[in-house]
Amino acid sequence: MDFFNYKNGELFCEGVPAAKIAAEVGTACYVYSKATLLHHYRQVADSFKELNPTVCYSVKSNGNINLCKVLAEAGCGFDVTSGGELFRALAAGGDPKKMIYAGVGKTDDEIRDAINVGIAAFNIESEAEIENIDRIAGEMGKKAIGALRVNPDVDAKTHAKTTTGRKGNKFGVDIDRAETFFETYRNLKNLHVGGIHIHIGSPVYEVQPYIDAVAKVIELIDTLTGRGHKIEWLDLGGGFAVNYKTPDQALPVTEHAKALVPMLKGKPYKIALEPGRYISGNSGILLTKVLYRKVSGPKNFVIVDAGMNDLIRPTLYESYHHVWPVKPDAKNLFPDRNADRLPVDGEVVDVVGPICESGDYLAKDRSLPKTQRGDLLAVFTAGAYGFAMSSNYNNRPRIAEVLVDGSTYKIIRRRETYEDLVAAERI
Ligand code: LLP
Repeated sequence: MDFFNYKNGELFCEGVPAAKIAAEVGTACYVYSKATLLHHYRQVADSFKELNPTVCYSVKSNGNINLCKVLAEAGCGFDVTSGGELFRALAAGGDPKKMIYAGVGKTDDEIRDAINVGIAAFNIESEAEIENIDRIAGEMGKKAIGALRVNPDVDAKTHAKTTTGRKGNKFGVDIDRAETFFETYRNLKNLHVGGIHIHIGSPVYEVQPYIDAVAKVIELIDTLTGRGHKIEWLDLGGGFAVNYKTPDQALPVTEHAKALVPMLKGKPYKIALEPGRYISGNSGILLTKVLYRKVSGPKNFVIVDAGMNDLIRPTLYESYHHVWPVKPDAKNLFPDRNADRLPVDGEVVDVVGPICESGDYLAKDRSLPKTQRGDLLAVFTAGAYGFAMSSNYNNRPRIAEVLVDGSTYKIIRRRETYEDLVAAERI
């Protein structure tokens, strides 16, 4: 569900025509819908409301301060994974008491900063890390709070590069070592470990991997409780998938909640969630313009002004993003954006960017209506891990980000300039 819709023959983001933004801001650019962002945040909070969860938006999916601010004002917490993300979440007005800090490689400086601002908890990923946090907190004369991230060894059935909860992944501590872990670190002076954290992967399209992981950690918590450890919260991580291809590809979060809430209702510990993509994914499109067309051997190429440096997901994960013209002709106007429907009088093309790599594509062998130079294309479901993973590769300034709210929009990150590209360099 989102607020990008075709009306009067063209694509709108809420009340603003995408073509108007392209004309005024230039292309390529990311366009976000505030209503879509809030809708998904509320959907997560509402679906799990019987558990009164703390929802911590995963900043890594899209950390623009303005998006984080919208969520912070709605009461959302934050899942951060670096000093930079912590800085962003605070700059957005986020409440440190609703911030959790995950990641296998937290540096001493990052740990110090997080303790200083009083985050809710570290999600601790190893024995070496817990000892380090305890040491640093001791030096600071403070008491840190943490949860143990356990690796439940379940298959999230997602891309190999983004599955995180299987034995042998670098994340967390193997679940069968968790009891020993709690025994070993029972009496730390400067660190209170009061929670359990899991994050099995992303995107997760099925509910069963969550059920399996949650069943395993419930059992673990029962064992730990039996041995006198007090577990005060369980953090279920993120990973809920979104519709990249067809409108019913991903389960709505309500379906995940239907399975998980009964398992967790009445438990004597609090629940946290860390969704990123589910909140930001459908909230953004990448708006790009056709520069050229060309034929090479059997292939038709549509060359656009956005490249893999702007959206790396297609080439990095073989991800599918629905691409469609901003102003399709009437016979190709699919109000439901159903990717299964082929365009009338269409053509099969690769939509590629200007970067000097054959992996620089946004869509491959895609049936699209015929386009020509100057036409605008929208790349949908690009709000998560789009701008966040963008780079200056080929010395391309990073593109602008725009936030639409009803019938108005604001540039929430200006397009970078050539001066920005060299600003940090010293001759
Ligand atoms: N919590 C932890 C500990 C995580 O590592 C992640 C994502 C999340 C929460 C949020 O997951 P989400 O709800 O957004 O699925 N770049 C990849 C995704 C990498 C996810 C990394 N961790 C992509 O574009 O698909």
